[in-house]
Parts: sequence; structure tokens; C-alpha cells
Amino acid sequence: MAEVAHPDVKTVAELAGQTDEYRLAVEKIVISHAVNELHGARVFDEPAIALAPTPYAKWLACRVAMEEYHHHVRFHALADEIGIAPERMDPTVKRPLSIFEFPLRTWPEFCVIKAVADYGEILQVEDLLHCSFHPLRNLARITMPEEKFHARFGKDSCLELIQAGRGDEVQDALDRYFPITPAFFGASNSRNNEMFRRLGLKQRTNDEMRADFMARVSELIEKDFGLRVPALG
Ligand SMILES: [Fe+2]
Ligand SMILES: [Fe+2]
Repeated sequence: MAEVAHPDVKTVAELAGQTDEYRLAVEKIVISHAVNELHGARVFDEPAIALAPTPYAKWLACRVAMEEYHHHVRFHALADEIGIAPERMDPTVKRPLSIFEFPLRTWPEFCVIKAVADYGEILQVEDLLHCSFHPLRNLARITMPEEKFHARFGKDSCLELIQAGRGDEVQDALDRYFPITPAFFGASNSRNNEMFRRLGLKQRTNDEMRADFMARVSELIEKDFGLRVPALG
């Protein structure tokens, strides 16, 4: 489909003058980030502090949790500026993504989640760097180095475990977690995604992002970790 470039919307004030469709699309993206950053921090990052094996690992886990909560705070602040009702960001109204349904119990699981899921987050944030709504573009720019740090932390922590002879635990966590991650990128023929691209809010299709993710994470697992890419169910 031919892409139609949408004129840039530089400020929250300018958003009020846009079409209903554009405003709704912006709201959907902001709500999704606000809800999922908070949910991830609650179910993965904060509990991981207690699972971390050493004071240094706890410090790193604290930093990751702090930053994930801050991502939520930033997106929520933008939601407030736009005038999105807080009820619309209630997790019973806007369900968090299925990748957070994984029951986190061990440190290797957390390391795998950060190495894999935060790489997916990098791809999502990268896509927003060119967003036609500039306040989202600016949030993406601030958030990106932190998401890169999370993925790097995950990769380094997995490598440490592998070097300590615990590669089987990393493989086991991958076997159980990796198969649920492709859903992170949404449906193949998503009407939301089609709308986001038409309005210049996002650049790539869900399938393009998923294919990029699968290729890059497969390389991480095979080349960096020397482990096996789990079969998808
Ligand atoms: Fe985040
Ligand atoms: Fe992150």
C-alpha cells in the first residue's frame, strides 16, 4: 500500500487541531506504552531485585526497575498533558501484553527476559524515533539509551551465567520464554498498525518488526550464547 506522509505535529497544543482519527491513534500508542511499562516493572523488574544473586546484581536490577518505572511516569505525564483520562490506563480496561504473563521465578529467567524482550522494546522505540507526533519522538529519544542498557544488561548477565556453567538454565528459560515473544509485535493484518503507518506515527508493519526481531534474537542465541533457538509452538 502506498504510504501517505502525515504532516508533523510538533506540540501537544497542535494535537488539538488534528483529526479525531489522528488524536485517537496517538492516544492508543501513549496508553499502550504507559500501561505496559508499568506492568512490566511490576511483574518482572521490581521482583527481580529480590532474585538478584549479589549486591552488584541487585544494584543493576534496581537501576533497571527504576528506569522502567520512569518510562511509565514519562508516558503517563504525556497522557496527562494530552488529556487522556487515567481510567483508560487502568490494566483492567487496557489489558497489558501477553509477554508479561510469564511467571517469573528465577534470576536466569529475568536475564533472558531482558536480553530478549527488551530487544523487542528497542525495535518498538526505534520505530517511534521518526513519529509524526514529535512529543512521542522526543520520548523515544530519551528512552532509547535506557532500553539499550536493559538489553545489554540481559545479554551480559546471560553470558555470565553461561560462562559459570549454567547455560542449561539459560536454555531452559529461553525454551519457555522465547515462544511467547513473537506475539509482542501484534497481529499480521493489524488495522491499528495500518492506521499508525498511514498517519506517520509508525514506520514498519508488525510482520517486518517481528521478522527483524526473530533474526536478531536468533543470532544472539546462536552466535553470542552458543545455545539453541527454541522451536515456536
Ligand atoms: Fe521500558
Ligand atoms: Fe526496558
